[in-house]
Amino acid sequence: MAFNNEQFKDILAEFTIGGERLREIAATFRQDLQLGLRDVTLSSMRMLKSYVGLPSGKERGEYLALDFGGTNIRVFRIRLDGDGKYEIVKRVGRPLVVPGEYDYICKDATAEQMFDFIAELVDEAIDGDHDTKYYLGHTFSFPSTQDNLYNARLIIWTKEFATQGVEGEVANDLLVAALKRRDAANVEPVAVLNDTVAVLLSAAYKTPDTFIGSIYATGHNTCYLEPTIHDPKGVGKGGMILNLECGNFSKLVPNRFDAEYDERSEKPGEQRFEKMVSGRYMGELLGMAIAELLGEKGKQYGLTSVDMSMMILDESENLTKASDIIMAKVGRELDFEDVQKVRELASAIVIRSARLVAASFVALVWQRAGSGKIVRQHVAVDGSVYEKMPLAKENITRAISELLGEDASKVDTILDNGGSGLGAAIAAAMAVEGNA
Ligand code: BGC
Repeated sequence: MAFNNEQFKDILAEFTIGGERLREIAATFRQDLQLGLRDVTLSSMRMLKSYVGLPSGKERGEYLALDFGGTNIRVFRIRLDGDGKYEIVKRVGRPLVVPGEYDYICKDATAEQMFDFIAELVDEAIDGDHDTKYYLGHTFSFPSTQDNLYNARLIIWTKEFATQGVEGEVANDLLVAALKRRDAANVEPVAVLNDTVAVLLSAAYKTPDTFIGSIYATGHNTCYLEPTIHDPKGVGKGGMILNLECGNFSKLVPNRFDAEYDERSEKPGEQRFEKMVSGRYMGELLGMAIAELLGEKGKQYGLTSVDMSMMILDESENLTKASDIIMAKVGRELDFEDVQKVRELASAIVIRSARLVAASFVALVWQRAGSGKIVRQHVAVDGSVYEKMPLAKENITRAISELLGEDASKVDTILDNGGSGLGAAIAAAMAVEGNA
């Protein structure tokens, strides 16, 4: 059965954002941000205080960094040498899920099991040394409220995590208890931060004039340095970094695929923006579009963003790779024109995602500029979608140009690879040094 061309065009249009709409989206994002700055309950974003500003760049010493934000847990020992320099002394990592073996993120897993697994990894990073004192920075990349640099309390799991007994708890308290059970109480968590904040700290440590940090990966979120917020319990300079939790931005009109996916997701109504842009969801959206075209609406094929990326990259004459992926996941052999259409849809979904993310960056650039001029600056981004997904980066740049015109030459996005680990070590140093 070949795809119906009208239906295909209609779906393609659903995933296309023109110039005017892009501008409206950026303006709406900024408005939502301004509402939140006045009264956080008015914004669809959580706009969480981080209790940290920018580093001085002079931070020094050896720290532990725990990166807990996706299915891979990583622990690093990092030596900060000041002047933007550092060295990773040790690095260990392990997934929270190995299919058929264990799964610490499913509904049946408990907080204790999850944090014991993490403590074991921390122990590996310190080679079982239970005597030396270690200060640990913890990148915990889920929406959490905190009123100092230590006590992030998980509001709600995102990214389809479902482990019992963590929502409502202080992540570092669960970690401290697990470290005690392992006899590793010499490791002291002193700072907790969102991965966006970690990326911003890491980039700002190395590259001055960076005020916005973002993750564009399995999940999506952005933070920025808000100069008007100061808190006696905070450290760092230039104001306070606000973790927007903009994955929850919901003042956008979703298309029918977004709406349908949301309804059947683990947390309907939550993370609407993230479900439109991040790597966890793009493959699902593509699958839904294909199901509609094949007349099997509701069927799920388990397409991932890696599948999408491989299909988009397949420029071979017969689109062999793309056809193979469709065969393996959708279970159909499509003719050449339809494989081409699937590739077009995959591209449209990625381009929409990149344009939405760019609109949110521009909203923050506008916000920081206020009524003044836009200054030269970098937006630090980390994450697999930004780094590896074809079409993502170039479409962010294009959309920034469309929105900022001449000023676009002052704003660029830079990859801050591995910022989650380095940022955590920097935050720990700032906490220990009491850098205000
Ligand atoms: C979480 C954020 C996080 C982002 C990127 C989202 O699902 O809510 O806290 O920054 O994923 O990891």
